[in-house]
Amino acid sequence: MLLSFHSYKGGTGKTTFVGNLGVMLSQKGKKVCIIDTDVNGPGLHSLFDIRYEMTLIDFLQGVCAAEDIVYKYGDTDLYIVPSKACEEDISAMFNTPGEARDKLLNLMKKLQEKLGIDDFLFDCSPGINKSSLLTMNLVDKAIIVSTIDVQDIRGTYVLSSMSSKLGTHAALLFNRIPVEKRNDITSIVSDFSDKLGTELLGLISYDDFVGKTWSRKIAMQDDPECDYCVELKTISEKILEEKYT
Ligand SMILES: Nc1ncnc2c1ncn2[C@@H]1O[C@H](COP(=O)(O)OP(=O)(O)OP(=O)(O)O)[C@@H](O)[C@H]1O
Ligand SMILES: [Mg+2]
Repeated sequence: MLLSFHSYKGGTGKTTFVGNLGVMLSQKGKKVCIIDTDVNGPGLHSLFDIRYEMTLIDFLQGVCAAEDIVYKYGDTDLYIVPSKACEEDISAMFNTPGEARDKLLNLMKKLQEKLGIDDFLFDCSPGINKSSLLTMNLVDKAIIVSTIDVQDIRGTYVLSSMSSKLGTHAALLFNRIPVEKRNDITSIVSDFSDKLGTELLGLISYDDFVGKTWSRKIAMQDDPECDYCVELKTISEKILEEKYT
């Protein structure tokens, strides 16, 4: 399955969610690869503490092969493709958006052949930009991670409209929800997703443990029974229950 994670504003919790989801899926016996396509502000390598040499950028620029940019995470079946900070957009590295798309498809094909990957997860850059839309156009399902900040919510509306123009199934995930307001917020975001006609995956509360890790720890490894992980597991069942191929 191909899944991408988007948001309108930065810092909504995409990298944290995708990293923990990847660990959880690999714990369940899946072979998972997370690709950092947030080329302007990559962070996946920090979460997994990957000391990289070659990255997605080098592969896209034709400097190295697919197998040179994939890093196995410990003794798990989770593989990370990091990116290094780059001022350009992915599609700006190619003559046409079609070439960029083919290159990413080629990367997945190579990694699938070599490693037998079941699921590819894309950690995308925030905002409306060509890299993010390029990825959204490739996947089975685009997950839009939002907070309840009105800037995020309005942007979520825009991202959701973009996904329907591209013909990609979108689903909404609300993160960092204040626990004491959870019930009220649940009904507000349900109405919002009904009006948008976009699937609501669910809500994840603000979690003190995750908040205080500052991306230095992966909750699913250190404390898989914490509230954040329990909520993530419920949401992941919804994410994976249908195939959108
Ligand atoms: N449910 C949560 N409760 C508390 N803190 C959270 C939660 N989800 C994420 N965080 C924290 O929020 C911060 C931002 O998270 P993260 O880096 O995952 O966001 P992002 O959407 O990937 O950001 P960017 O758009 O800049 O790439 C991190 O310090 C992370 O630990
Ligand atoms: Mg991120």
